[in-house]
Amino acid sequence: MKRIGVYTSGGDAPGMNACIRAIVRTAITRGLEVTGIEGGYAGMIAAKFLPMNMRSVSNIICRGGTMLKSSRCPEFKTQEGRARAAANLRAAGVDGLIGIGGNGTSEGAHNLWLQERLPIVICASTIDNDLYGTDYTLGFDTAMNTALEAIDRLRDTAAAHDRTSFIEVMGRNNGYLALYAGLAGGAEEIVIPEVPTDVDALCQRLLDAQKRGKTSSIVVVAEGPVTGGVVALAEKVSARTHLDVRVTVLGHVQRGGSPNARDRINGSRLGAAAVDALLAGETDKLVGLVNGQQHLTSLEDAYTKKKPIDQKIMDLAYILAR
Ligand code: F6P
Repeated sequence: MKRIGVYTSGGDAPGMNACIRAIVRTAITRGLEVTGIEGGYAGMIAAKFLPMNMRSVSNIICRGGTMLKSSRCPEFKTQEGRARAAANLRAAGVDGLIGIGGNGTSEGAHNLWLQERLPIVICASTIDNDLYGTDYTLGFDTAMNTALEAIDRLRDTAAAHDRTSFIEVMGRNNGYLALYAGLAGGAEEIVIPEVPTDVDALCQRLLDAQKRGKTSSIVVVAEGPVTGGVVALAEKVSARTHLDVRVTVLGHVQRGGSPNARDRINGSRLGAAAVDALLAGETDKLVGLVNGQQHLTSLEDAYTKKKPIDQKIMDLAYILAR
């Protein structure tokens, strides 16, 4: 292997830049050349390539977003799209790939490997933390802390007005952000897709909390079709309880911002580990962390298998919010 391509794909996550930096500098240190691919799979199809050297990644470790840009690319889901991407990469002399992303990125990479046999590994990265085969995904920690800061602020104003504050956090199909930010923020209720929501029971618990002397409550809700979203839920609760309710949707605020130390450190570790995995002959693998150690998982497992929520954390949040 002489030249590797590096790209970021899907939802950006804080720490992606730290990971790009680690890939570029580790690869060059190991004697490889590095080509940056701008805009993920769309950039492969459009041949948006740039040469990268040690200085290309200066001063990015502290920045959110991704210097290589990102996209969601329907064309890459087609055989023709992947064939064009591979032809462009081969013409540019790229003979190995490292992507940084989540489920969609892993699926795209697996299909590219099956179809084109271009060696490829993915660094686990999504604020959702929903990839199987890794305890941690890059960006989750910073996003969770961003959500937590918002919850703390909302608690201040909810307490001042004796209100019930509903906060929607990201995590399309999973409740990691909601669960852990909720636990850390002392939320009275946490609504996630993994645990069916009984709205009547939730209303009753909020009213019972008032009887126990609580004057305000925080309800953290994971976005998405399973929970039905925060607005619909808050309307139902307001109609059934007559509590004074306010709703906040955090949205893409959670994706931005300077990565915290954990995401910079883990981005650095994952990036370096990905280069070494590729050089060791690994392909079609997700590079993640299990029990704090670098861990490889088949890409197909990473995006098809479900990473379970720890019910004990949910139970703990309820006990501690009483
Ligand atoms: O996968 C990361 C994520 O932020 C999800 O939590 C969210 O549902 C989705 O991306 C939003 O996607 P987009 O940036 O395309 O609106």
